[in-house]
Amino acid sequence: MADTEKSPRKATAPSRRRTRGPGRGRRGTISDRRAVRLVRAAAAARVHAVAPYSRFQVGAALLTADGEVVTGANVESASYGLTCCAERVALFKALTRGHSRFVGLAVVARLPGGPMPCGACRQLLAEYAPAAIVWVADSQAPDRIRRFTVRDLLPQAFLKAPPNRR
Ligand code: THU
Repeated sequence: MADTEKSPRKATAPSRRRTRGPGRGRRGTISDRRAVRLVRAAAAARVHAVAPYSRFQVGAALLTADGEVVTGANVESASYGLTCCAERVALFKALTRGHSRFVGLAVVARLPGGPMPCGACRQLLAEYAPAAIVWVADSQAPDRIRRFTVRDLLPQAFLKAPPNRR
């Protein structure tokens, strides 16, 4: 089995590898707290989804390397194919505000297990947020957060420029 086929790790589960230390909570890690904060931001952004056709509201929140949180929600069109996912709205907002390094992305919708980013969003994440940890959660169970890397989501991504040229 390829080593990219790792099972997702729950962000809220106590980590075996990381022990408690400075700045770490009783059960979690620094990144767990980031995940909880980002999932909350994504859930708040979800309320602003414009989804009159599917009625499926999705919220996303990106954490930039300098600690800012940039949110987005899905926007649909009567010409369905023009719909833009919450992840891409957040990413495009952040990029066009001058952010270029991202450490995390949370995605929230009312779906058991949380919504997995679509293929188009995975491609853009691979290009513009390759180091981001992706946390997904069901809006009905926001404490149950699943964690993925962008590489988990899109191994062997098509990248035109080498990473140091982007
Ligand atoms: N959608 C997202 O915003 N993100 C996802 O990860 C999956 C799908 C949106 C697109 C569309 O507005 C609606 O959900 C139904 O597909």
